[in-house]
Amino acid sequence: MNTLVSVLYVVAFALFIYGLMGMTGPRTAVRGNWIAAAGMAIAVVATLLLPGMGNWLLIALGIGIGAVIGVPAARRVKMTAMPQMVALFNGVGGGAVALIAWVEFRTTDGYASEPRYVAIASLFAAIVGSVSFWGSNIAFGKLQELLPGKPVTVGRLQQPLNIAVVLAAVVCAVIIASGGRSEWLIIGVLVAAGLAGVLVVLPIGGADMPVVISLLNAFTGLSAAAMGLALDNTALIVAGMIVGASGSILTNLMAQAMNRSIPAIVAGGFGGGGPTGPAGPGAGDRPVRSTSAADAAIQLAYAGRVMVVPGYGMAVAQAQHAVREMADLLEAKGIEVGYAVHPVAGRMPGHMNVLLAEADVPYGALKEMDESNSAFPQVDVSLVIGANDVTNPAAQTDPSSPIYGMPILNVTSSRSVIVLKRSMGSGFAGIDNALFTDPKTAMLFGDAKESVGGIVEELKAL
Ligand code: TAP
Repeated sequence: MNTLVSVLYVVAFALFIYGLMGMTGPRTAVRGNWIAAAGMAIAVVATLLLPGMGNWLLIALGIGIGAVIGVPAARRVKMTAMPQMVALFNGVGGGAVALIAWVEFRTTDGYASEPRYVAIASLFAAIVGSVSFWGSNIAFGKLQELLPGKPVTVGRLQQPLNIAVVLAAVVCAVIIASGGRSEWLIIGVLVAAGLAGVLVVLPIGGADMPVVISLLNAFTGLSAAAMGLALDNTALIVAGMIVGASGSILTNLMAQAMNRSIPAIVAGGFGGGGPTGPAGPGAGDRPVRSTSAADAAIQLAYAGRVMVVPGYGMAVAQAQHAVREMADLLEAKGIEVGYAVHPVAGRMPGHMNVLLAEADVPYGALKEMDESNSAFPQVDVSLVIGANDVTNPAAQTDPSSPIYGMPILNVTSSRSVIVLKRSMGSGFAGIDNALFTDPKTAMLFGDAKESVGGIVEELKAL
C-alpha cells in the first residue's frame, strides 16, 4: 500500500507543477487550475489510503462541510472580492496546520518519545500557521470593510507589543522542545502566535493588504511544509514548499511593482483611505475640463493610436466587454488600439489581464508597463478607464506622497488623455491625482460601463 501511495503522490506532484505552469498565462490558467485541483484530489485520496486511517464518518463530515461552504462561496464571489476570498481560504490552511500541531502534541504526549526535529518542526508549524490564520482573518476583515481599512495601531507601544507576543510564543515553544509537557504551553504557543498575527496586520493599511495576503499565503505554505516534515508526509512537504516558494516570489514581485519593501509593509502605515493630500504643484488651482461621450468618440475616431489604461474602476463597472466592442469599432476604422497594464492595477495580481482575457482581448495587444511607457509619446489618445493611483504623477513629483517612488504609467506623455471615472474621488491610496487637472486631460464622468457604452453608440453613429 505504501508503494501505491508513493506513486500516487508523485503523480500528484507532477500535476501540481504542470498546473502551476498553466498559471503563467490567462489563456491556460483555468486549465492549469483544474490540473492542479486533480493533483490535489489524488493527493487526498492517497493520504486516505495510508495505513492507520480511520474515523471515516468524521472525515466525510469534514469534507462535506468544507464543500458545502467552499463551493458556493467560490462560485458566487465577485472578481473584485477575490483578494479577501483568497485571504480566507489561505487562512484556513494555516489554521488547519496549527490545529494539526496541537493534535500531534496531544497524541505524542508533548513529543515525549519523538526525535527533537519532530518537535521543532511541529512547533514552527504551530507558530507560523497560527500567525497566518489570525493575520489572514484580519486581512479579510479589512478588505471586506468589516474592520477599518486605515492602519489601527496602539502608537509607540506597537513594536514592543509585537515583539513581546512573538517572544512569548517562542519561549513556550522552547520550553516544550526542552521537555515541557503541560498542554497550557502549546495553547500558549497558539494564542501568542495568533495575537502576533492580529497585531502585525491591524496597523497595515488597506492598499498594502494584497501584498500581506500573499505574504501570509507563503507563511501557510511554509507551515504546511514544516508539518509535513514532522509527520513524515511527503505530499505536505512538496505542496507546502510550492505554496511557500510561489507565495514568496509573488509577494516580492508585488512589493517591487509598488516600490515598497516588505519590511516597510509589515511595519505598516501606508494606504487605506488616509488623509487626502494636495494633488501636486498648482493642481488645486487648475480647472477640471469635462467632456461628453460624443466628443470623446470624435477624439478617438480621429486618432491614429489609442492606448486603453484600465484600472480598478473598470473591474467595478465590469466594463471590459464594452471596452472590447469599442476597440473593435476603432480597429475597423484602422486605428491601432493597445492596452497599458500596470502590474498592480486593480486589487490583485493579474486583475486586468483576467478581465481583458474574459472579454477576448487579444493577449498580444496587452502591453506591460515599460513597453507602454515607451509607447505613450506616439499615442494620440490615452483612455484611462477607472485607473487612478497607477497614473498619479505624484509618484514621481511629490516626495511626501505615500505612493512616491511607485512606478506609474506616464499617460501625460501621450498627446491627449481622457479619464473615465465617476467623480474627482481618490483611488485606493486615498490621495488626489494631478492628472485630472492636467491641461491635456478631459474627464468623462460616470460609471465606466455606461461611459464606454455611450462612446460605442456615438462611434456607430459616426
Ligand atoms: P485605484 O487607484 O484604486 O482607483 C480606482 C478608481 O476607479 C477610483 O478612483 C474610482 O473613482 C474609479 N471607479 C470606481 N468605480 C468605478 C466605476 N463604476 N466606474 C468608473 N470608475 C470607477 O485603482 P488603480 O489605478 O487600478 O490602482 C490600484 C491601487 O490598488 C493602487 O493603489 C495599488 O497600489 C493598490 N494595490 C493593488 C494591488 C494589486 S496586486 N493589484 C495590490 C496592493 C495594492 P470614482 O470613485 O471617482 O469613480
